[in-house]
Amino acid sequence: MCGIVGYVGPKSTLEVLLGGLKRLEYRGYDSAGVSVISGTGLETRKKAGKLDNLVNEITNHPLSEAHIGIGHTRWATHGAPTDGNAHPHLGGPTAKLSLIHNGIIENFSELKAELLAAGTKFASETDSEVAAHLVAAEFEKTGDLPTAFVNVVKRLHGAFTILVIHEDQPDVVLAARRNAPLVIGVGDGENFLGSDVAAFVEHTKRAISVGQDEIVILRANEIEIRTFEGAPVAPVEFEVSWDASAASKGGWSSFMAKEIADQPQAVADTLMGRLESDGSVRLSEIDGLSTEDIKNIDRIVMVACGTAAYACDVAKYAIEKFARIPVQVELSHEFRYRDPIITKNTLIVAVSQSGETMDTLMATRYAKEQGAKVLAICNTQGATLARESDAVIYTHAGPEVAVASTKALVAQITAGYLLALFLASERLAAGCDATDEATLRKLGQELLKMPARVTNVLEGLNEVRALGKEMANAKSVLFLGRNVGFPVAMEGALKLKELAYIHAEGFAAGELKHGPIALIEEGQPVIVIVPSPRDHDSLHPKVISNIQEIRARGAKVIAIAEAGDKEVANFAEHVIYVPQCENIFSSILTVIPLQVFALELSGAKGLDVDQPRNLAKSVTVE
Ligand code: F6R
Repeated sequence: MCGIVGYVGPKSTLEVLLGGLKRLEYRGYDSAGVSVISGTGLETRKKAGKLDNLVNEITNHPLSEAHIGIGHTRWATHGAPTDGNAHPHLGGPTAKLSLIHNGIIENFSELKAELLAAGTKFASETDSEVAAHLVAAEFEKTGDLPTAFVNVVKRLHGAFTILVIHEDQPDVVLAARRNAPLVIGVGDGENFLGSDVAAFVEHTKRAISVGQDEIVILRANEIEIRTFEGAPVAPVEFEVSWDASAASKGGWSSFMAKEIADQPQAVADTLMGRLESDGSVRLSEIDGLSTEDIKNIDRIVMVACGTAAYACDVAKYAIEKFARIPVQVELSHEFRYRDPIITKNTLIVAVSQSGETMDTLMATRYAKEQGAKVLAICNTQGATLARESDAVIYTHAGPEVAVASTKALVAQITAGYLLALFLASERLAAGCDATDEATLRKLGQELLKMPARVTNVLEGLNEVRALGKEMANAKSVLFLGRNVGFPVAMEGALKLKELAYIHAEGFAAGELKHGPIALIEEGQPVIVIVPSPRDHDSLHPKVISNIQEIRARGAKVIAIAEAGDKEVANFAEHVIYVPQCENIFSSILTVIPLQVFALELSGAKGLDVDQPRNLAKSVTVE
């Protein structure tokens, strides 16, 4: 889950590489490095720590003008984040080859032993350096860089995107891809490579996704793609819909703050073209699934990790309620390795912002092998998950740069609601049990109102901001919720853990008395997501009882409740109100104060909200 960028063309290579790395830094930020080939040969600079350290290094030791180069931002797997382990790695005794790698080379010990036996000297502890020496040695033997490159990548096991440049071939960047992302940016007299389109979107919106086990031979005026076996691959171009400004902070203090503010748009854009004003849902993306196929679905398994898995938990409530199809939510990594029961009537719904999360890719590949159909909910055009699924519902949240997911989550939840309404309507048409059409339309119309309500929530968060600041010294915060409030509670806890590094747990409020209530002591802050009191089957009274149970034991309660809920104020130290809506859709609103709370608390502790320690945006290793 490192970030990779490559360039060949007339522009200042260093500027292109550093600009690309800046946009990819969310993928990893333990160290960074670049190599360029100038008139005097291969030049490399690399440095542990954030990209700024590399920029300082280059200021102190400038690079020559160059028109070809590669750059890398690292999330350490093999070897600590040191200058020596930073990429690029140089290969061969004369160090004329430079290589960057994203992924893990699983058979690196065996390959390293072979190189050590041949007398190769290593400068790092990484698996990647092995590949650099192997390609350099193979080039010595064959005299042809693409042949040498492909001979080596075919020997590597695991996951990799690898980019290589060589001083003796100063007009070409080579790239290979297996189980890790790689996209080509197509320019005019220049071409780009990136882990995702963010790497080059400020220069070109024309892109080509590189397929599994393919290599790219990239020159300023030529793009050649071949399989590892040497067969030519016809490139399929697509247009990137993001623009560069979408991936810049635009005056906000952090990407996360900006992305929180982007949420009304993320919800509106995800609904756009899919939800008519009469409340009916059209999901042309899944036209491939006939009404008969939908009728035959006997179970949906939703696979995802982290925040995306909480979006699935919310979707489960909606799909089961409206479409009456049983839904199982599975963490991708647990699902894949426990011999799960999958039949041809199981629909797999894989949810991922990046579309590159290796755990989710492995789970969906496994499910496909068992004969299941896979529907992806994904935010990144041309991502591996999207390419490998039978159908894709793109969330239109735009690029999410902050490591902690915010707008991608609300867009995933929105897509989940759309899917629930769509499946219900289709099942009804096929004569199955589901919510009646008039109710579905009414719900669809309610969903159309959500972007405005999200704006409303964002306008009323002063109290949450103040609380976040005040609670900077909290040692632990608990979160409680029921129904769709339960995954929101889990998400609130995750945000606090990852951003503020404090202990936080989310619980189903009803579960409290079965054990976790023992955690409550005098002064323990507990944030409770309170359901609407307006539904006839509302869980409101039960949650109020849960609040009373914890308050009796000293908890300090912050309630997130619906506007007009007067009762809750009697039982909480603070109440943050969000607009009224159908309770099932409330997760889109109640999650926002929790995002802002974590953002403020993290800021008050002086932490980096966009790049929390030990994390990376895209987890492309298992
Ligand atoms: C938390 C967060 C992660 C991701 C998870 C899955 O804020 O962002 O938990 O949700 O790593 O990532 P994607 O959605 O890219 O598959």
